[in-house]
Amino acid sequence: MAFTEKQEALVKDSWEILKQNILENSLRFFTIILEIAPAAKAMFSFLKDSDEIPQNNAKLKSHATKVFKMTCESALQLREKGEVIVSDTTLKYLGSVHVKNGVIDLHFEVVKEALLRTIKEAVGENWSEEMGCAWGEAYDQLAAAIKAEMKQEA
Ligand code: HEM
Repeated sequence: MAFTEKQEALVKDSWEILKQNILENSLRFFTIILEIAPAAKAMFSFLKDSDEIPQNNAKLKSHATKVFKMTCESALQLREKGEVIVSDTTLKYLGSVHVKNGVIDLHFEVVKEALLRTIKEAVGENWSEEMGCAWGEAYDQLAAAIKAEMKQEA
């Protein structure tokens, strides 16, 4: 089914809200990831050596921001072009960085769940199933591109 203007707007508008509090939302995102999959802690350089999630870490914020922002860009591409296109260099980098850090396909489901829950909490009463589906679809297509590249790299 085609990705509609409304779906794109649902993603874009909630990203605008999320962005205003990106540090707090990044922390929430990683807290949820570790709640679902405690073992994921060992993969992240900024998590593995401490008992608690660092409260103000540039790398943590960077990863969370990249996941949200690239999903948002994917929503735009889905509506404009009907598919998610990641530039070759970016995709190669994403493929290798994740293979190198021991990421597997299943982790993408964990991150998806954390992404959706973070958005749901951040937008409060503005949340809708439709908003969740729009984010979910854009994320799935982006994740599929990264996972395919990871298979090439492995
Ligand atoms: C690193 C993006 C999903 C684990 C990175 C980096 C990017 C990125 C751009 C390079 C470092 C940075 O700029 O922050 C993404 C995107 C994802 C995604 C767009 C999904 C759409 C995942 C998943 C996992 C994961 C599912 C595993 C739970 C990691 C790890 C690193 C990394 C362990 C190295 C970070 C470090 O220790 O500094 N990712 N990622 N990523 N990613 Fe992801």
